[in-house]
Amino acid sequence: FKTIIEPFRIKTVQPIRQTTREERERLLQKAHYNVFLLKADDVLIDLLTDSGTGAMSAQQWSGMMLGDESYAGASSFYKFEAAVKKITGFEHVLPCHQGRAAERILFGCMLKPGDVVPNNTHFDTTRAHVEYRGAKALDIPIPEGRDPALIHPFKGNMDLQALEKILQGKQVPLVVITVTNNSNGGQPVSMANIRQASEICHRYNVPLILDCARFAENAWFIKIREDGYANKTPLEIAQEMFQYADGACMSAKKDGMANIGGFLAIKDDDKLAKQCKDVLILTEGFSTYGGLAGYDLEALAVGLQEVLHEDYLEYRIRSVAYLGEKLTECGIPIVQPPGGHAIYIDAKAMLPHIPSNQFPAWALTLALYVEGGVRSVELGGMMFGKNDANPAEPNSAMELVRLAFPRRTYTQSHIDYVSEVLYHVNSIKDTIRGVKIVEAPAVLPHFSAKMAPV
Ligand code: F0G
Repeated sequence: FKTIIEPFRIKTVQPIRQTTREERERLLQKAHYNVFLLKADDVLIDLLTDSGTGAMSAQQWSGMMLGDESYAGASSFYKFEAAVKKITGFEHVLPCHQGRAAERILFGCMLKPGDVVPNNTHFDTTRAHVEYRGAKALDIPIPEGRDPALIHPFKGNMDLQALEKILQGKQVPLVVITVTNNSNGGQPVSMANIRQASEICHRYNVPLILDCARFAENAWFIKIREDGYANKTPLEIAQEMFQYADGACMSAKKDGMANIGGFLAIKDDDKLAKQCKDVLILTEGFSTYGGLAGYDLEALAVGLQEVLHEDYLEYRIRSVAYLGEKLTECGIPIVQPPGGHAIYIDAKAMLPHIPSNQFPAWALTLALYVEGGVRSVELGGMMFGKNDANPAEPNSAMELVRLAFPRRTYTQSHIDYVSEVLYHVNSIKDTIRGVKIVEAPAVLPHFSAKMAPV
C-alpha cells in the first residue's frame, strides 16, 4: 500500500479551541501583531515550532515514573548518558536544560572577542550566543542553499571552499555544522560534506561541533538520498555523522522527542570537558542532572531511541513533504525540496508587493493566524536581519515563514486544514499589508517586538 500511516495510535488527547476571524483580529491586536505574544489557547493549529511541542510515547511516560530524583548519581542520568553515548560515541555527556544552555557553556569556554565561528547556518540563539561572546557568526551554506526554489538533495551543506578560506585567514576556535540546517529550510547535510568539513577542520587543528537538534531527520535524508547508505540503519548513519565531529550541542526538545532537555557532549578533550562541567555545575546544576528532573532524563533516554525507528522517520519526513506537495500544486512558493521538520514559505516570492523593510514574512504569519488560526514563525528580517548600520533596512537574505511540525502531534486532517488556509490566504494575498516595528529589544527582537500594520 502506498499510504504511509502515522505509526502510532492516539492515547491521550488535548482539545483545541475554534475562534472566529473577528476574535482573532482582536487577539492579534492585543498581542501587538506578534504571534509569540498570543496565548496558545487562542491558536487552532500551532506550527510555531517543533521544539518541545511533540507528544511522548507510552514508553516515555512510563519511563518517567521511574525517574530517579537523586541530586547526584541518579540512575536516570546513567540511562540518558548511555543513550547519548550509543549514538555519539563521545566520552563526556553533560545534560543541560535545553540547547541554548549547551551553547552558552561551550561558547563561554571556547570563544573570545574577535573570534570567528563559521556554521552552515546559525540558528537564532546560536548566533546570539556567539555574538554575546564578542565573536563573529559567519553563515557559509553552499550557494544552492541560498536559492529557495532550487532542488538539491543536500541544500544544508556547508561551503567547504569558504570554510577553508576562513580557516586560513581568521581566528577560528571552532566550526559548527547544524543538522538539519534549520534556518535554511530544515535542509539536510550530506555525510560527504560532514566528512570533508571534518578533514579540513582537523588539518587546521580546529574542532568540529555538530549542532544536532535534528540529527535523526538528517540521518534519514542521508539514508534515502546519499549513495551507499540505503542499507544502513538510521542509528548506524547517526553514529557515522558523530564520528567526524569533536563535540555536539543538542536541543533534545526536537529529536530527543521530549518536552525539555538538551546536552553538550565532548569526544575526548578532557580539559575542555572539565572546564565545561565546572560551568554546568555553577549555572545549570550538578553534572548528573544539569537542570533537568530525573524524569526528564528518562523521557530523553527513551526518546533518543524511538526517534531512530525507521517507520517513525519515514512517516515524519513524508508528512512534511505531503504539505509541501499540496502547497506547490497550488503555486505557493516554498523552499524546495521540503525539509525535515517544517515547510518554509518564500514570503518574498509570494508577497512581492511588500518591501523587505515592511517584513513580508512577518506579515504572512499574521495573515495565517487571522484567516485560519494557524500559528507559524517568521525567519526573515525580524529574526535575522539586524543591520546595525541602518536599523530601518533589515538585511536578511531570505524572507521565510516556517510551518514547523510538532512530532507525533497533528494528524493528516489537521495538515489538510492548514493547506486549505494557505490556499485561501494565497487567493487574497494582494490585500496583505506590511508591518512596522513599534518597539523591539536589541537582542532576539522577534520574541517580544511590538509591531503594527503599515
Ligand atoms: N540549534 C538549533 C538548530 C535549533 O533549532 C535550536 C532551537 C537551538 C539550537 C536552541 O535550542 O531552543 O533548546 O535552546 N530551535 C527552536 C526552533 C527553538 O523553533 O527552531 P533550545
